[in-house]
Amino acid sequence: MDTAQPATSPIDDEWIEHHFDHLAPEFARDFQPTLARARSLCPVLHSDQHDGFFIATQYEEVLRVAQNWRTFSSERGITVPHTPTPMKVLPVTIDPPLQREFRKLINGYFRPAVVAEWEHQTRVLVNRLIDGFIESGECDFMESFARPLPGLAFFDMALHAPADDLEMVNGWATLASTPDHPDGMDSHIKLAGWISGFMAERRRQGPRGDVVDGVMSAQIEGRPITEAEAIGTIHLLILGGLETTAGVLGMSMLRFCEQPEIPALLRSDPTVIPGAVEELLRLDGSFICIGRTARHDTEVAGQKIKEGERILMYWVSANRDEAQFENPDTFDPTRTRNPHIAFGAGPHRCAGSNLARMNLRIAFEEITRRLHDIKLQPGADVEFHSTFNRAPRTVPITFTPGPRSGAV
Ligand code: HEM
Repeated sequence: MDTAQPATSPIDDEWIEHHFDHLAPEFARDFQPTLARARSLCPVLHSDQHDGFFIATQYEEVLRVAQNWRTFSSERGITVPHTPTPMKVLPVTIDPPLQREFRKLINGYFRPAVVAEWEHQTRVLVNRLIDGFIESGECDFMESFARPLPGLAFFDMALHAPADDLEMVNGWATLASTPDHPDGMDSHIKLAGWISGFMAERRRQGPRGDVVDGVMSAQIEGRPITEAEAIGTIHLLILGGLETTAGVLGMSMLRFCEQPEIPALLRSDPTVIPGAVEELLRLDGSFICIGRTARHDTEVAGQKIKEGERILMYWVSANRDEAQFENPDTFDPTRTRNPHIAFGAGPHRCAGSNLARMNLRIAFEEITRRLHDIKLQPGADVEFHSTFNRAPRTVPITFTPGPRSGAV
């Protein structure tokens, strides 16, 4: 899927080597072929766009930048162009050692043992969503499944937030994750306002022992967490938890339509599903890239990077690096070695990877069990919103109508 560069692509080597623009719509349309070409041209490119920035596309370099937080800071900016949010989203915009205090606070609520307790409820939710469209034989998979699932699961099990607010919050999360969108900033502000009201309501209700209580009552550097820090931490959990998983679900469904042997394999042998989740994360990870800012003059793969200059790390390109993965564009759930970095690397490595993996596994188990003969609707023109997170806007599919399960 998505590997050969079309002859009509407006993107040429000159564009890639000197004018690379991750926000360009033509790049979103010609995504993996452009990254494959970038990998073959140079491990670290420099672009003159957005006041100049660097792009790391090969596995070794991406890993090196991600792990070296002493040189490549998150505190000094993680986006290109630099777009500070109206409030600090934590802990993705701070560096160790302070960042580690926030991570210690969050990590305990997303450990494998905690997430395992949500498995039954998640399966019920997945089946309830499938019940909503299975009799009709068609749906927009993004609207009916991929977007609601991570949000409903997160609101119900992790945040204990009202499900009625989810659609609104999901809408803000989508826009806030799209930094070039004119309503992006406004969505951040609305989301922060909602979190503030939600926390006030939770204080009235009394403790429930969940991550919200943990954040509100945390000690940071030996003093109580501030209101702004608590909002910023829950803000990132919502942004991190909703759009990313939805994107992987949507792209996996596109792959199922293009390669029907994949859902057939998962249906006939569900034991390969955990391996398939890793392959789908590797091939179609939704968190495309994120930036760091050099804290002092340095060098990566022969490129001199000056203090204050930015570099984007392309996780999705590293995950298809020919030097790291044999047949990198091939879906192979039986790979014995799959050190993909779809969840990042270094101190900021994803806090929600156990939850995301569980949601994806159960979704694929139930989808392949219950939906047969899945196809993309004829004439469907799938567009991507893709800046830092890549997700199809719609995935209209057909399948053989089936019975509801009655999951409640
Ligand atoms: C398939 C789904 C997901 C993908 C692909 C993904 C990917 C990532 C990546 C690449 C990073 C590293 C960012 C950086 O280096 O600056 C990250 C960080 C983070 N993710 Fe996820 N994520 C996913 C799901 C989730 C979920 C479900 C949650 C909610 C619990 C979550 C919460 C976070 C948080 C809080 C951080 C920041 C950690 C820090 O700065 O220390 N993510 N994620």
